[in-house]
Amino acid sequence: MPLNLVLQSDLTFSTLNVPTITNRAERLLRLLSLRRKNLSIVLMSDAEIASFNNKYRHRQGPTNVLSFPAQDGGAALPFAIPPDELGDILISVETAAREAKIANKSLEDRLTELILHGLLHLLGYDHERSEEEAVSMWDKEQKLLHELNQTGRKTMAQLAINVDHVATIREARGTSEPDPVLAAGICELAGASGIVVHLREDRRHIQDRDLQLLRQTVKTKLNLEMAAAGEMTSIALATGPDMITLVPEKRQELTTEGGLDVARNRKKIEKTIEKMSKAGIPVSLFIDPDERQIKAAGEIGATFVELHTGRYCDAASEEQRDMEFDLIEQAAAAASAAGLRVNAGHGLDYRNTPRVAALETIEELSIGHAVISRAVFVGLDQAVREMLALIRPPFPGR
Ligand code: PXP
Repeated sequence: MPLNLVLQSDLTFSTLNVPTITNRAERLLRLLSLRRKNLSIVLMSDAEIASFNNKYRHRQGPTNVLSFPAQDGGAALPFAIPPDELGDILISVETAAREAKIANKSLEDRLTELILHGLLHLLGYDHERSEEEAVSMWDKEQKLLHELNQTGRKTMAQLAINVDHVATIREARGTSEPDPVLAAGICELAGASGIVVHLREDRRHIQDRDLQLLRQTVKTKLNLEMAAAGEMTSIALATGPDMITLVPEKRQELTTEGGLDVARNRKKIEKTIEKMSKAGIPVSLFIDPDERQIKAAGEIGATFVELHTGRYCDAASEEQRDMEFDLIEQAAAAASAAGLRVNAGHGLDYRNTPRVAALETIEELSIGHAVISRAVFVGLDQAVREMLALIRPPFPGR
């Protein structure tokens, strides 16, 4: 267990929300790419932290947080400290509670700040060394707190348009029209907040040339859907999309049929995530709304999951549709609580989208076929705007 949260026995904070604190600490470890490291966080009283403060820093009285890097003092030990050991963070919950009250924030929020502060100390940041280092540590803290708060959404869901099927029409004739690159620009001008393309191994629609040009022209966000395969990984690293979405890919299928089995293909997917995170490319995993897959996605360091909405969209009866919707709602809540960002897509159209868009745990919808089909009759700009109008909440700001 990489994270060990210890509550000292004489702590009387019965209102402490331990799962929330554990979850935030785990997310911080993930944001700092320290998922595999071992860390202990010990929550204690003022009296207890005062004795550590006195013994190790020769200072009187309690403090809010103390960090003890595992490697410090290692030379004095007769054995090597494993490199995976980060160290210990000691926090006084009593001091944290007083500080939370003064700053008018929750105890959990203050504890999160102190855990982050302690973590940065373990990584070598030290605000006491110089003014310059104090500024750099402060900046890093603010940036990470901002990223930590990026889960869920505060406004309407975003709409990313998949332009694969513009390329499908082009490939039907093997000519150069219609051009998915031009389509992407029209979608952005109409208000889409991202462009999605699936570069398939068999190149049935999107071509390498499209991806290169899209990388140069997309102004919002380019999401590359791909299989977790060697060739695609090299292409993604060379192109640098804003994010990738890993999908299962079978040559015979008409479209992506099911979600990834993350639990079963853990090693392969984890390797791809590691390569992408080194290049700063966030990874989304396209999965069925299933708790086992969500758990596995969180464990191997995915930033997003995209929930497969196909079964909800294809439901044969209203009863069945309600059941499938409940699964999406529950899965989105579970993923969000686990610190994953949540997108959804597949099969969404002008009838079934509003219900999914209303789920506040879902950040972005990825829609292709329905919008491109409607564009044949009403034009692409209009088709995108109509979908955006369905996604927009009826009472903005509520
Ligand atoms: N999300 C993923 C992962 C997909 O594979 C697809 C289909 O390419 C979509 C969303 C969009 O699905 P649709 O074309 O049915 O809107």
